[in-house]
Amino acid sequence: MTSLPETPTAVTVRAPAKVNLELFVGPLRPDGFHALSTIYQAVGLYDEVTVAEADEWGIVVHGRDADRVPADESNLAMRAARLIAAALGVETPLHLTIDKEIPVAGGMAGGSADAAAALLACETLWGGRHTREQLDTLAATLGSDVPFLLHGGTAIGSGRGEVITPVLAKGTYHWVFVPSSGEGLSTPSVYGAFDRRQAGLDLPEPVPSPAMMSALRAGDPDALAAVLANDLQEDAIALHPPIGEILHAAMDFGALGGLVSGSGPTVALLADGPEGAIDLAVALTASGVADDVRRATGPVHGAHVVPTPRRS
Ligand code: C5P
Repeated sequence: MTSLPETPTAVTVRAPAKVNLELFVGPLRPDGFHALSTIYQAVGLYDEVTVAEADEWGIVVHGRDADRVPADESNLAMRAARLIAAALGVETPLHLTIDKEIPVAGGMAGGSADAAAALLACETLWGGRHTREQLDTLAATLGSDVPFLLHGGTAIGSGRGEVITPVLAKGTYHWVFVPSSGEGLSTPSVYGAFDRRQAGLDLPEPVPSPAMMSALRAGDPDALAAVLANDLQEDAIALHPPIGEILHAAMDFGALGGLVSGSGPTVALLADGPEGAIDLAVALTASGVADDVRRATGPVHGAHVVPTPRRS
């Protein structure tokens, strides 16, 4: 007698954080979002989301800063799971477990990573037949960064950040992230400050810079460091000046370059190699400039299923 393949009752997916190597912000669109041209790079800090069939819907969050993540229906992973359930017509409730490594509310897309992980986990659990394009469309309804976290690697983000085009990039980059706690530095508040600063100006439609493209094609960290750019950086620093001090100190400590990640407050610093990254991390903490630093390399793959679930 042949046995049917066992249907999983739990699936775990890991999703990486992102850094925006370049973030050009264009005009405010009628839908309230800004036109963007960004270069995303997925970096090796991960959240894991496990979805398991249960008697009722529920969610628990573990890891550093877990208490700052809503463990209710507003959680992006929960919204992603509900979205896939509705799209597939599934009525079985799920219990979600999130293990967080990505800094919370830091500009590294932790919530979007959880949403991407939950989408892929539910799709895998229920044997969904969505195409990559259909998953991207669902992902984009959850947040501008979510489609990229499904893809990973290095990619251009256009539209409001949700339209992904892979970029040919060589090499591995060594990052040190400083997730300073920037109270009051929400994504809408940083975009709001940008709008006030740019009021009355006729912003062009943003496009990727040729210098960034050639640095990535060459796989040259020095060239990349020289062209890191973020239109929101000035606003994030104005709202939370310690970010500017971290950037200054890091250059003194030998960083090749640095910038605010997304809308901040995390500062992303590029080092000249694995040892340079360790030295930079030690200098930042030993000097008291930073009390929490994370090292990671990029690019890495996007959301992917972990073969054996840790929890069920
Ligand atoms: O889509 P996401 O969840 O990343 O957006 C969070 C907030 O960031 C939006 O509500 C908006 O205030 C701002 N945003 C924007 N333009 C974008 C992306 C985000 O104004 N392209």
